[in-house]
Amino acid sequence: MGQRIPEETVEHIRRSVDIVDIIQQYVSLKKQGRNYFGLCPFHGEKTPSFSVSPEKQIYHCFGCGAGGNVFSFLMDIEGITFIEAVKRLAPRANVDLSHVVDEHPTAERKETTTMIAAHELLKKFYHHLLMHTNEGEEALNYLLQRGFTRELIEQFEIGYALPSWNATVTFLANKGFSLPLMEQAGLIVKKSGEDSYFDRFRHRIMFPIHNHQGETVAFSGRALGNEEPKYMNSPETPIFNKRHILYHFHEARLPMRQKQQVVLFEGFADVIAAVQAGISHAVATMGTALSEEQARMLRRNASSVIVCYDGDRAGIDAALRASETLVEAGCYVKVAMMPDGLDPDEYVRRYGADRFRHHVLDASLSLTAFKLEYLKRGRHLQNESERLRYIEEAVKEISRLSNAIEADYYLRQLANEFSISMDALREQMMIYGKKQVEQKQERRETVAVPVRAKLLPAFQKAERMLIAHMLRDKAIAFAAQEAIEGAFNVEEHRAIAAYLYAFYEEGHEPDVSSLLERIHDPQLKRIVTELSMMPINEDISSAELRDYIQCVLNYPKEQLLKQKEAQLRDAERQKDYERAKRIASEMIALRKSLHFGRRGING
Ligand code: CTP
Ligand code: MN
Repeated sequence: MGQRIPEETVEHIRRSVDIVDIIQQYVSLKKQGRNYFGLCPFHGEKTPSFSVSPEKQIYHCFGCGAGGNVFSFLMDIEGITFIEAVKRLAPRANVDLSHVVDEHPTAERKETTTMIAAHELLKKFYHHLLMHTNEGEEALNYLLQRGFTRELIEQFEIGYALPSWNATVTFLANKGFSLPLMEQAGLIVKKSGEDSYFDRFRHRIMFPIHNHQGETVAFSGRALGNEEPKYMNSPETPIFNKRHILYHFHEARLPMRQKQQVVLFEGFADVIAAVQAGISHAVATMGTALSEEQARMLRRNASSVIVCYDGDRAGIDAALRASETLVEAGCYVKVAMMPDGLDPDEYVRRYGADRFRHHVLDASLSLTAFKLEYLKRGRHLQNESERLRYIEEAVKEISRLSNAIEADYYLRQLANEFSISMDALREQMMIYGKKQVEQKQERRETVAVPVRAKLLPAFQKAERMLIAHMLRDKAIAFAAQEAIEGAFNVEEHRAIAAYLYAFYEEGHEPDVSSLLERIHDPQLKRIVTELSMMPINEDISSAELRDYIQCVLNYPKEQLLKQKEAQLRDAERQKDYERAKRIASEMIALRKSLHFGRRGING
């Protein structure tokens, strides 16, 4: 009962929160003038076109058109319903909505909610088995021996799955979960050709994996000994997408925003060791290469990334690949050099937190410096021809830098190191440099994003300007209602005007964020946010206002006049003078009915 949240409550919650605070949890925002700007979380971009207005309590992306108020932001970014978005913000307004259940979640949403609930319960079950049972003792000892402390195990909610074929199946069935759904969630496996299920994870140390809201959506199970596979992960499911999720992201978000830096690892053991060493801005991929989506997610939260992968050949290759992806996403990348054969986790355990921080993280190299170091590996630089080959490749690498000062810096280093003249190196670089520029230009052409046409016809511009003013000024809206009513020529503008008239008639003051509450069509929402973020001169003269109104009203008549003109020519061609005369007089009447502004007759 009572599943609808009263409008006043929704309004109260909306007014109690600041949209900037909420969006800032997902996007780094910088204040510029009256608004805040950041990288749009709804599409990939390197230069910020996403803006948030604290005055209007709305956001709008000039790149992709996304826009709305705080509720629509949460709905879009979290993929939740309106009710869920309101519920999520309720505590900030000291409103208790915990009794409200969303009546109309989609079937899909219901299933994912159940899947997450099962993961949450299982996480506790596995953790209990590890910490408090005889069966879990071996696993617990293994972890303690590896250097995991009890606090760390608690903090990361690590658990243990029994060496049984049906412990998890039984647990889930007893809790009333549908087994086919649990199979879809990746927790259990269906026996082929039969209607029965068995546990996916058996005799493994269970690392819960959280999504970016902190909900448990998957597990990774590590073998206790040397069995293969070493790690067994949940498969891709409706709640677990490896391209989108980073281990420990939820916890790392705040520290990484504060430091504007994040440390990227390959494995979760590394993340846990880093956290133990006091490095909380640490995340890891899911045993897959860093995806573009993950790189963009990091870029939105921090400007620089330290890649800290294993020191072996495979680790270095993976670090270079991840770095490329990060640079593409617009991150400033540094690479931490691990001594050969050690992974970050082993390093911390062997040499301690301080040394890891100072000798590895603080000593991390810029990507170019790292590549120059890396190019030296396995080369005998005493040997003249190998040395020349190295210098050549190093110059090639340096020529890829777009920043001339940076390039010069590395060239100078190279010149000093090998006692070569800067001139010779610069000359060499010019050759590569040219090729680089050509390649870059080709790329830019293919990648170029079509800029939305700003060259709109006059009547459309007039309607947009008018609505932009109507959104800010009640009197202008009433004047437009008087003069135009529903006669806007663009269908969406007509709809927005109708919403706006009703809003003001009910006695509300101009408030886009509140207005957006009533508009459900996403396309209309976009237009409203775009127009209310459009810079306009708020002191509009009455002549200007009249011009806009006339332009809107005249447009259909002008169109009709054009039609009549064609008909007239047609009639004259056919020598049908009767008809021509009739059309001509209709045209005169039409022209007379045109509204003329101070600019005079233009027909
Ligand atoms: N991984 C995986 N499946 C495997 C091996 C590795 O998914 N069979 C992933 C895991 O996410 C792991 C990461 O790749 O964290 C790095 O692998 P590796 O370096 O082999 O593991 P470590 O993190 O060093 O784990 P441990 O210290 O427990 O050996
Ligand atoms: Mn390891």
